[in-house]
Amino acid sequence: MPETAPACEHLRKDHRVIEESLDILLAALLRLTPELIPEIQATVRALQDLAAIHFEKEETIFYPKVRPLLSDLLDRMDVQHEEVREVERYLAELLAEPPQPPDSRWLSEVRSFGIEFHDRIQHHIVDEEDQLLRLAEDRLTAEEQESLAAAMSAVQSRITSI
Ligand SMILES: [Fe+2]
Ligand SMILES: [Fe+2]
Repeated sequence: MPETAPACEHLRKDHRVIEESLDILLAALLRLTPELIPEIQATVRALQDLAAIHFEKEETIFYPKVRPLLSDLLDRMDVQHEEVREVERYLAELLAEPPQPPDSRWLSEVRSFGIEFHDRIQHHIVDEEDQLLRLAEDRLTAEEQESLAAAMSAVQSRITSI
């Protein structure tokens, strides 16, 4: 129902873009060799940028609006964001200084933290879409959806124009 729920639709569109990078990351991790490290570094950086903008939209605009209606669910979403950030930090640190040449122990750490990063984001997207966005579509008015979507588009333009 894109016409009546533009804020939910906005977040779903972001999720589809994030999933494109998640698929690339997972494919590289599953056939991991030292030659694939630059691609993995670039994909993780892209995911960090996408997640930063998306989390900002959710945490400063969408979540505060629906929190009074769905507080337990929102608490769970907050925890999931923290879990994503935690593994993202660890993975980024690991990728910042690859040993030369990359040894098998380091590669297997990259593989396991990379897969965990992938899985946490994917799991969070599924939870948001199956629960949060579905409920928000029922509870928010068309006007609220419109104004949230406009505010999130403003965040997107502000950040991507920097
Ligand atoms: Fe989220
Ligand atoms: Fe989301």
